Amino acid sequence: LRENSPIRWDEERGTWDVFRYKDIYNILQQPMLFNSLPSPAFGDGTTVVTMNPPQHKKYRDLLNKLFTPREMRKLEGRIRDIVVDLIHETKDKDEIDIVKDLAEPLPLYVIADILGIPVEKRKTLKELSMTAFGSSESATEEDLAQFRIVFAEALGQLRIILEEAIEEKRRNPQNDLISKLIDAEIDGKRMPEEHLIGNCLLLLAAGNETTTNLISSGVRVLIEQPNIEEQLRNDSSLIPKHVEETLRYYSPVKTIFRKVTEDMEFNGHHFKKGDPINTWLMSANLDEEIYEDAHLFKLDRKFTKHPHMAFGNGIHFCLGAPLARLEAQIVFKVLLDMFPKIEMIPETEWQTVASEISFGLKTLRL
Ligand code: HEM
Repeated sequence: LRENSPIRWDEERGTWDVFRYKDIYNILQQPMLFNSLPSPAFGDGTTVVTMNPPQHKKYRDLLNKLFTPREMRKLEGRIRDIVVDLIHETKDKDEIDIVKDLAEPLPLYVIADILGIPVEKRKTLKELSMTAFGSSESATEEDLAQFRIVFAEALGQLRIILEEAIEEKRRNPQNDLISKLIDAEIDGKRMPEEHLIGNCLLLLAAGNETTTNLISSGVRVLIEQPNIEEQLRNDSSLIPKHVEETLRYYSPVKTIFRKVTEDMEFNGHHFKKGDPINTWLMSANLDEEIYEDAHLFKLDRKFTKHPHMAFGNGIHFCLGAPLARLEAQIVFKVLLDMFPKIEMIPETEWQTVASEISFGLKTLRL
């Protein structure tokens, strides 16, 4: 597709598909021509990911201050403790399902901690988030209808937990993200309640399946290419490179969506106002025109000229990238320190997540 139809109109799905790195880069760099889409989960335009300029910048500037790599590094010890605890919880079994036992709970526990949600609520929060925001694999119309009901119920319960936490922190502010967001001002005013809840929901949702996928794919690489595990064991300073190359090679988010805001010609195609566009990040990350030996996993790959697109590009570039990177780096450090060899349980298979958007594993037993 990248070679023969790098931009195509998909009649059945009613959307443009864009596959090449350079085209995707151009689209994501022009948010006024290619708007973000509203999301039913977070309300229309109440969160950074669905906002467009100029409102987006005000909210993004505020959130950026709370998610710098420096702020995230302060969480290092806490994240390590959560990783070690999760691994210890499996001590009575003689195997670990890296997805279910570690990669799924970790990001949720970490973000719940950052938001300031009480520890005793985090298991419920995890179940609800996975139902509300996890990939739907339902096949039939009936399944889908049922899924929508369950999804709406889970979302409703999540909102209640957040509303309660917000109320509690208004009375008794702490050093956590919800308290900081309550206190923050946009244009000299406090954030409307709907935006506060919407952005907290977004933070709960955005980092979960994505970080889970990154971790499971990073382990998958070690199983597929044992020489990589060996290199990481010999030199743990390569772990951040392993995480970066995993992000490129097995992009956790396959595609993101935009909407055309005015009629235009784009590389020989006529885009009409309102047309939806799928920008295939996963394809951009494997574009041979950009990356030498794009189909190979290389620990020494450099991203200085062409950053990979796993976290998107432009104004909506992932807010949580420093956190996701840190979580994954800590996981690999701990796994390699605690276990002399990472091996898949013989005669088991990994299963990939069946989703158009998300790429990772559903289960991987080690
Ligand atoms: C945006 C990927 C982890 C919060 C994005 C976007 C991508 C992405 C592709 C761009 C969306 C767009 O342009 O429409 C990922 C991946 C992750 C990850 C692959 C893990 C490996 C996280 C985490 C958090 C987070 C841990 C927060 C705790 C956000 C937010 C946005 C975003 C708030 C919206 C930013 C904006 O619109 O300005 N992410 N993400 N993400 N991500 Fe992530």
